[in-house]
Amino acid sequence: MLAVHFDKPGGPENLHLKEVAKPSPGEGEVLLKVVASALNRADLLQRQGHYAPPPGACNILGLEASGHVVELGPGCQGHWKIGDPAMVLLPGGGQAQYVTVPEGFLMPIPAGLTMLQAAAIPEAWLTAFQLLHLLGNVQAGDSVLIHAGSSGVGTAAIQLARMAGAIPLVTAGSQHKLQMAEKLGAAAGFNYKEEDFSEATLKFTKGAGVNLILDCIGGSYWEKNVNCLALDGRWVLYGLMGGADVSGPLFSKLLFKRGSLITSLLRSRDKKYKQMLVKSFTEQILPHFSMESPHRLVPVLDRVYAMTEIQAAHVYMETNRNMGKIVLELPQ
Ligand SMILES: NC(=O)c1ccc[n+]([C@@H]2O[C@H](COP(=O)([O-])OP(=O)(O)OC[C@H]3O[C@@H](n4cnc5c(N)ncnc54)[C@H](OP(=O)(O)O)[C@@H]3O)[C@@H](O)[C@H]2O)c1
Repeated sequence: MLAVHFDKPGGPENLHLKEVAKPSPGEGEVLLKVVASALNRADLLQRQGHYAPPPGACNILGLEASGHVVELGPGCQGHWKIGDPAMVLLPGGGQAQYVTVPEGFLMPIPAGLTMLQAAAIPEAWLTAFQLLHLLGNVQAGDSVLIHAGSSGVGTAAIQLARMAGAIPLVTAGSQHKLQMAEKLGAAAGFNYKEEDFSEATLKFTKGAGVNLILDCIGGSYWEKNVNCLALDGRWVLYGLMGGADVSGPLFSKLLFKRGSLITSLLRSRDKKYKQMLVKSFTEQILPHFSMESPHRLVPVLDRVYAMTEIQAAHVYMETNRNMGKIVLELPQ
């Protein structure tokens, strides 16, 4: 089968397609013939040599995919049969023509969505669901500050926050991105390149600050985050695009807010946790991708690249040009 491959860590020019052995499903696993996968920041980090796959995971890039079940391993429970369409969360391996996956990581594709749209759901939406509900304990009426509001995760988090009855506020680096976030349901958006988002957030919340922050930026935002966090607020750190170093009185500022700092990485979670997450998401959220749901959740796709254009897809994400997800179409 063909898979995205790189021989040594480095820039996008190192990526190419390579013929590799097709995997076989193990105990409780299915083999999926992949129609589409999507790009994540983790792929860029792994390509650069900064993010190794967790122990036991496939080292091929790709944290999500959509496709068809083509083989069942021993011990499968009969929830899935050959030919079923599905979308999957993966610890790696999605950017290949076939991938094996525990059957508990598969989700049905919501009616009316294409395979390309489905490939854009698992990683971003499961992450956003986990951050808001399992870690952030979002409540109706909460104000939630979502950084990188037009990112894959951000576009999902805005919609899920609205569905929970919360008030999403976002940051982004351009007017165009902020407008898109507002169309998805953000109550307000702040261009972090042009204004101090923490002052703008305090103004919007009439001095109270936000109850929850979803933060994939880290170092460069810490002081502004703690400044606009409400008393007893929760700050969920799940990425470090703005660096890992902190200099200054973080602890005293956080303590005087009685703030909670929570961190999260989904990829390294164990099988049991991921199965629980997939099940909860399938039951509570997937029905709301239907046209009939008053919430009408939508996966936001920016561009679709053929897998042969993998280098261009990485450059597009690395230069912060995407609004929503970048999807890769596999050769059939
Ligand atoms: N912990 C987990 O389990 C988990 C799971 C999934 C994703 N993530 C993390 O979530 C984040 C978003 O991922 P994604 O795939 O959704 O991203 P994405 O679609 O590529 O969007 C990322 C956006 O972040 C903004 N950005 C980049 N560098 C920045 C900086 N230094 N300061 C402020 N904004 C910056 C850019 O938009 P602007 O133009 O607005 O600056 C960029 O387009 C990443 O950090 C990723 O690693 C974590």
